[in-house]
Amino acid sequence: MDRVIRVGMLGCGTVGGGVASILSRGSADITARAGAEVRVTRVAVRDTGKDRGLSLPAEIFTTDARSVVEADDVDVIVEVMGGRQPASELLRRALELGKPVVTANKELVAHEGPELYAMARTARVDFAYEAAVAGAIPIIKPLKESLAGDRVRRVVGILNGTTNYILTRMTEDGASYGDALAEAQRLGYAEADPTADVGGHDAAAKTAILSSLAFDMAVHDRDVFREGIEGVTATDIGVADRLGYVVKLLGIAHREGDALAVRVYPAFLPKTHPLAAVRDSFNAIYVDAEAAGELMFYGRGAGALPTGSAVVGDLIDVSRNLLQTARGASESIHRPTSLFPVDELQTQYYVLLEVADRPGVLADVARTFGRHDVSIAQVWQDGGGESARLVLITHRAREGSLRDTVEALAETPAVRKVASVLRVEARRCSTRNVNP
Ligand code: NAP
Ligand code: HSE
Repeated sequence: MDRVIRVGMLGCGTVGGGVASILSRGSADITARAGAEVRVTRVAVRDTGKDRGLSLPAEIFTTDARSVVEADDVDVIVEVMGGRQPASELLRRALELGKPVVTANKELVAHEGPELYAMARTARVDFAYEAAVAGAIPIIKPLKESLAGDRVRRVVGILNGTTNYILTRMTEDGASYGDALAEAQRLGYAEADPTADVGGHDAAAKTAILSSLAFDMAVHDRDVFREGIEGVTATDIGVADRLGYVVKLLGIAHREGDALAVRVYPAFLPKTHPLAAVRDSFNAIYVDAEAAGELMFYGRGAGALPTGSAVVGDLIDVSRNLLQTARGASESIHRPTSLFPVDELQTQYYVLLEVADRPGVLADVARTFGRHDVSIAQVWQDGGGESARLVLITHRAREGSLRDTVEALAETPAVRKVASVLRVEARRCSTRNVNP
């Protein structure tokens, strides 16, 4: 086969290295599947002197990323450098030049995806980003193509491997949050600054990308209500376990009429929910669609080869399209973006209070919930004396009402501290038949 698709790579770190090694070891099959040899002809990095352990020739490396984008001997751009800039500027330039793009950059796609999709449509070239959400797991294509004839009701994802690893260690080994985070850092899951993962920013970016595709609206990372796992304690995990739940960091998007309700937070999830079995650093996405029903997508959300697999899959798709002067399916962001107000969301809640152990305290607490129209489903006391704690599970209530309740509880003299507040998600995911 004498046709060659010439690839310019922006970045050659963890994911870029995975891409290069998958391309070299599977080259015969990849050539047959793509219909042409897929060859890396230029690579932009920060440090051209670094030993990357790859079989790419030294002379194709440069620090001038723009020259890679603009080179005549580059047909396709693979962006695996990460970050918003200069990646945004470089990808916009590539699209202006009519060059298709494959990217793993969730931060960029979550921030300016709809604009980049529109640029690619105008340029009549592909913009592919399967690796940007949940690494190896095919979820972009299923939402964009396979489920195009269906109507998605709800998407729930465990989209961050680091936090899932931390919560798994806390659940299965009884580790504290601090110890589990330190272990995640030692194993290379969590960064030295873990904020993007534990603060839910990474999961929010991925949830925004999935929401755009599932609900046909332009959704950006800033549209996603977000809470991280920093406040989750061993006590919360123990209470969840006693009640038949596990604690997971969830990205959730569902329809509320014509609006989209979208958020990321740690929540109690019933042990019977398919996502409850997703352990360690694995990711999974649960999709509930009107005709297809419940679907689960499970796998590795990070790592050189898993993420590289998704990038190379996109690269083969893009190569096939280039050879036929075609482009793949577009995003259909045809609905005006309408976000359901977070305060109006309804779910059950778990609330843990540190209280004084004396007569009338429970009555004061119950009155505070009642005054804000939040009904209590279960309550019990753990411990006594100076270390008395009240555990409460509410019926479904408005987020705004629960927040007002918590603010009032913090001012109640008998309440020493509102120690935890977490949402309790339902097993059934349809918006109509959620919680009892
Ligand atoms: P990484 O290991 O830090 O690699 C980044 C690469 O980009 C390095 O080769 C670096 O060069 C190069 N680079 C950075 N800034 C540059 C600049 N201004 N000009 C030229 N080259 C530049 O990052 P990564 O983990 O592979 O992640 C890459 C992308 O994939 C990110 O968007 C990330 O969110 C996404 N992603 C990563 C994973 C994962 O498991 N790591 C999973 C899913 C998605 P040097 O090597 O010379 O420093
Ligand atoms: N830091 C991410 C995670 C991987 O822990 O899942 C890249 O998206």
